Amino acid sequence: MDLPRPKPRPAIERMAAYHPPSSGRAGKLRLDFNENTVGASPRVVSKLQQVLSADALTVYPEYTEVLPALARFFEVAEDELILTNGTDEAIQVLINAYVDNDDDVLILTPSYAMYRFYSEVAGARVRTLPYKPDTLKFPLEELLAAIRPTTKAILISNPNNPTGTALKREGIERILDKAPEAAVLIDEAYFEFCGITMLPYLNEYPNLFVSRTFSKVYGMAALRVGCLFSCAENMAALHKSHSPYSVNYLAAIAARAAIEDTAYLKSFVTEVLAAREVLTAGLEKLGVPYVPSQANFVLMHIGPRAQEVCDRLKLEGILVRNRGYEIPGAVRVTVGTQEQTRRFLIALAPLWQEIQR
Ligand SMILES: Cc1ncc(COP(=O)(O)O)c(C=O)c1O
Repeated sequence: MDLPRPKPRPAIERMAAYHPPSSGRAGKLRLDFNENTVGASPRVVSKLQQVLSADALTVYPEYTEVLPALARFFEVAEDELILTNGTDEAIQVLINAYVDNDDDVLILTPSYAMYRFYSEVAGARVRTLPYKPDTLKFPLEELLAAIRPTTKAILISNPNNPTGTALKREGIERILDKAPEAAVLIDEAYFEFCGITMLPYLNEYPNLFVSRTFSKVYGMAALRVGCLFSCAENMAALHKSHSPYSVNYLAAIAARAAIEDTAYLKSFVTEVLAAREVLTAGLEKLGVPYVPSQANFVLMHIGPRAQEVCDRLKLEGILVRNRGYEIPGAVRVTVGTQEQTRRFLIALAPLWQEIQR
């Protein structure tokens, strides 16, 4: 017998379920999620061990020390940032503050799945624009033409996941100028590998929002911590739509320890940039087509047997991400160390040669 039950909102009923692969990754060479492949700074781990006590866990988190430290590190004013439960919560807070049922939201495809996810949860009408065919470059003119006076939010990953392509500051400024009444999010999850940032311009553009994460280069994806930035005038609205204790105490402590170890961060970025060269040189030698990347991952065109290649790499303990559901034949590989990259290339070579025959 069917019992009466609460009916989800129409916006939720319309949504497709999103199931990222999220198990069986331990112990493998994880080149599938663009994480740091060597781990968080040892200083983060020892700080967490030092502060972990039963007493510390009883108290609701306080952010009075971490916020000023983060503001100094990111060179913004203290009232220009909020600490969020990963970028995901930054996107959610922004959408909750600015987007209503039936509102117009612009996103690009392929891009980070959570832009569509939170927009759809809010009941927005999501319009999508494709990255340029073949080159997968940012479709700037097309986006500018698609902006309407009623557009409420434009959500951009820069550099973009999974294409690795980035838009220059001048292009972002044209979008900000064209959409003064839309909340424009520039998600800088991969900033460290690319160097383009809009953080210095928060006060020039009242419609500019920037997010950063501790999940990628900092190696702290498990802790769920990120930041959302905008000019001080926008903060009241963001705070109203933000749960006050969403970032746990350990995550906040870890974020602070991570920004204190800039040497660790720099050495990992230097290693990844060198490994990206090794990877692209290796792909060229093999004849694997790929999209030049400004991030810590590269999108390769493997072709119709992409899933088989992913499965066989997995048997060898190497995880990569099949993005064929968005770009047929495309597989994304995270760039780790040079040694990890060589291991990946050695495993890929015979598979690639086999599927070419
Ligand atoms: C563009 C982009 N933004 C954000 C994230 C992750 O965000 P979070 O900080 O919630 O881990 C990812 C992860 O894949 C991403 O690709």
